[in-house]
Amino acid sequence: MKALVLAGGSGTRLRPITHTSAKQLVPVANKPVLFYGLEAIAAAGIRELGLVVGDTHAEIESAVGDGSAFGLQVTYLRQEAPLGLAHGVLIAREFLGDEDFVMYLGDNFVVGGINDLVDRFARERPAAQIMLTRVGDPRQFGVAELDASGRVVGLEEKPAQPKSDLALVGVYLFSPAVHEAVAELKPSGRGELEITDAIQWLIEAGLRVESSVISGYWKDTGNVTDMLEVNRLVLESVEPSVRGHVDDASELVGRVVVAEGAVVERSRIVGPVIIGHGARIRESYVGPFTSIGADCAVTGSEIEYSIVLPRASIAGVGRIESSLIGHDVEVTPAPNTPRAHRLVLGDHSKVQISS
Ligand code: TTP
Repeated sequence: MKALVLAGGSGTRLRPITHTSAKQLVPVANKPVLFYGLEAIAAAGIRELGLVVGDTHAEIESAVGDGSAFGLQVTYLRQEAPLGLAHGVLIAREFLGDEDFVMYLGDNFVVGGINDLVDRFARERPAAQIMLTRVGDPRQFGVAELDASGRVVGLEEKPAQPKSDLALVGVYLFSPAVHEAVAELKPSGRGELEITDAIQWLIEAGLRVESSVISGYWKDTGNVTDMLEVNRLVLESVEPSVRGHVDDASELVGRVVVAEGAVVERSRIVGPVIIGHGARIRESYVGPFTSIGADCAVTGSEIEYSIVLPRASIAGVGRIESSLIGHDVEVTPAPNTPRAHRLVLGDHSKVQISS
């Protein structure tokens, strides 16, 4: 079995971070979200990986390299534009050959790995096997309709009137039958070749499409709220460790990782928190569910439930919450502009003015 990971796309929902960098490389607990997927694929015993890349190919290639760090052998597949998930399969036709494959969306985060799914697929050999999860508002997802035995009888992309609350998770298993389906597809209303249409084609051709409903956690990390949630989830299980320097005037509470070369002075860190290599935290408070990237500087500030990418600096700005702060960002206080109150006050007035 081979793997196909989609790491192209335009990442509009994570702008402006994705104007300058790939969304699959946004870190979760200081590790790119894509790496968790690559690790899950390697853990399932798969070695050959096709990595679909777009405009951000250079950045992805320098992060993943030849894949050997993950125990994988990576072939890069350049997609000239984000023409849809099924288009990713189309351009990977030669790489995939006639093997079964797992398709994994590079910005998705699946807890618990994919070993069970891969084993089940190998045992039952359906034409396709999809993963589903129950969601509150299915209208923003691909939605599946199942029969009583759990077989998929229909799929719809972002339906206005969903037939169930079962949304597709970004991990799919396919037999080579999918190539015939993909070759027949026409672009959808939004101009993309939809993987849901390819699966629907398989169903209509009378082929077997199985599903597993996962209760484990998953997130499409395509937007900031989800990124922060995934970061929270991963930080909840980090092993505390202090490799950097923490002075006596600082306090660490709960699960806190202070990486090598990081410095914490006169500060209070309440975990779960990770402080990256070479970061400097001074006279600050870092609260739960925060990842501070490598070589960041936080001075005289408070930050909680946030992700800060490498080399950003935050100085003297009071409290920051629920934020995603990009590489090399500088956050500083606005200069105090002179303020004047212009008053026309009646005799004997009593006025309180906040200064
Ligand atoms: P999406 O999140 O569906 O699409 P997107 O990256 O264009 O993001 P947005 O909706 O914010 O504009 O993509 C899921 C994953 O698949 C993601 O890792 C990007 C990748 N992808 C491709 O590689 N090629 C494509 O043509 C598309 C649509 C997505």
